[in-house]
This record gives sequence, C-alpha cells and structure tokens, in this order.
Amino acid sequence: MINLENEIQLLMRECGSIMTEAVRDSSMVTAKEGHANFVTTYDKAIQEKLREGLLKLKPDAVFVGEEEDIHPSIFDGLAFVVDPIDGTTNFIRDYKQSCISVALLEKGVPVLGLVYNPYLDEMFTARKGGGAFLNGERIHVSDLPLELGIVLFGTSPYYPELNKKSFDLAYDYFKNALDIRRSGSSALDLCSIASGRAEVFFELRLSPWDYAAGSLIVTEAGGKVTTAEGEPLRFDCPCSVLASNGK
Ligand code: IPD
Ligand code: CA
Ligand code: CA
Repeated sequence: MINLENEIQLLMRECGSIMTEAVRDSSMVTAKEGHANFVTTYDKAIQEKLREGLLKLKPDAVFVGEEEDIHPSIFDGLAFVVDPIDGTTNFIRDYKQSCISVALLEKGVPVLGLVYNPYLDEMFTARKGGGAFLNGERIHVSDLPLELGIVLFGTSPYYPELNKKSFDLAYDYFKNALDIRRSGSSALDLCSIASGRAEVFFELRLSPWDYAAGSLIVTEAGGKVTTAEGEPLRFDCPCSVLASNGK
C-alpha cells in the first residue's frame, strides 16, 4: 500500500503541474448542467491522465471520475473515486484554491485518500487505520470549541433549492463561532479540518468525488464526518457532509 501511495502521489504531482502551468482562454471552459457548473479542458485532460495512471497501478480497480459519463459500482471490489480538479470555478479564475482528489475504496469504504494542492505544494494523505499526514508529517484536528472556531461551508452552487437553507445554516454557525469562510473547494475544506486550520465544515449536497478522500483524511486525523443528519456518509450517491473536530 505504501508503494501504491507513493506512485499515486507522483501521478498527482504531475497533474498538479498541469494545473499550475495552465494557459487560460475562453475556449477551455464548457458549461455543464446547473448554475455556475463548468468543466475545462484541463479537468478532462487531468482526469484522463489519472484514469490511465491509476488503472495501470491497480488494473483490478474500477474508475469513478467526476467527468466520466459512466460510473461503475463501487461495491464489488476496488474503486478509485476521483475529482480531477476540485474547485473548478477557482481554477478558471486563477484563484489558486483548487486541488486534485483521489480516493481508493474497498467494497465501498475509503481505504486510501490523497488531496493535493499544487499551489502550496501540500499533499494530504491518509490510510485507513494509519493516520493522516500533510507532506509526510502527522496531522490532527484542533481541540478548539465552536465558539473559538472557524466554520467553513460550501454553497451547493449547482442546487439552487439549497441556497437559502445553506446560508441560514451558515448564519446560525456565524452567530456561534469565531467566523466563517467559503473557499470554493470542498476537498481542501475537509483537509483544513483535518489539519486543525478550521473546526467545522458543512455542505448540503456534494458528490462522492468531492469528499471520498477528504473524509478519510478527517477521520484519520481524529475528526468526525457524517451527513448533516448525523448518518454515515455514502460513496455511491450525493449527500450532505458535516465534518468537525468532534468538539
Ligand atoms: C465543487 C467545490 C465547491 C463546492 C461544490 C463542488 P467542483 O467542486 O468542491 O467548493 O461548493 O459543491 O461541486 O465542481 O469544483 O469540482
Ligand atoms: Ca468537486
Ligand atoms: Ca471537479
């Protein structure tokens, strides 16, 4: 597993260079279904590189990528669940707050999670039962209570029906915490909880590639991740996500 993890890191770093060296022009962006939902030629190119590279490393696994048309079952054996660029709107605007997210699931359960932010050269990793790391150093959630905590949230931008509820909940947290933030990358938000940079993250609807790797990184860092209703996360369909340091 350690060799596999190292090989995946190398592949993700190569993909990170594609992101940091991207040349932006209007022809690279295509609109997808839903409000402010875009895909770029870079999302597709990185996903293709990951698909090829990951399946070469583990030929017996299936590949679930955000930009793939067909998503095979994750329950039969090994499955890679991949977001080639998490934070595409940030990427389009060169906001430098985007990442690559790769999880390996065994019978539907994440056993390996990697999230790479190429702008800061930060590689977050976790193995089930093996702890969470940032660039090889062990990380842990903070022990701050909510009233001293930073709350991160995602606006579920592609689901207008959730806008008001999201902002109402953010307002409730804002009144009870130190302050709130909205980064534009849910995978990086989860890594911020894992590394003790923030205390709570919620988003009312995300897809498995947004949180498969990050949720393992949070739990291996000593944090808690459930749906907003307190149920275990599912990795075969979208759901809400609530992550915290558990305080
Ligand atoms: C999005 C980001 C964003 C979150 C959205 C996600 P994408 O992923 O994680 O922070 O609010 O719900 O879909 O589309 O940039 O890969
Ligand atoms: Ca995403
Ligand atoms: Ca994406």
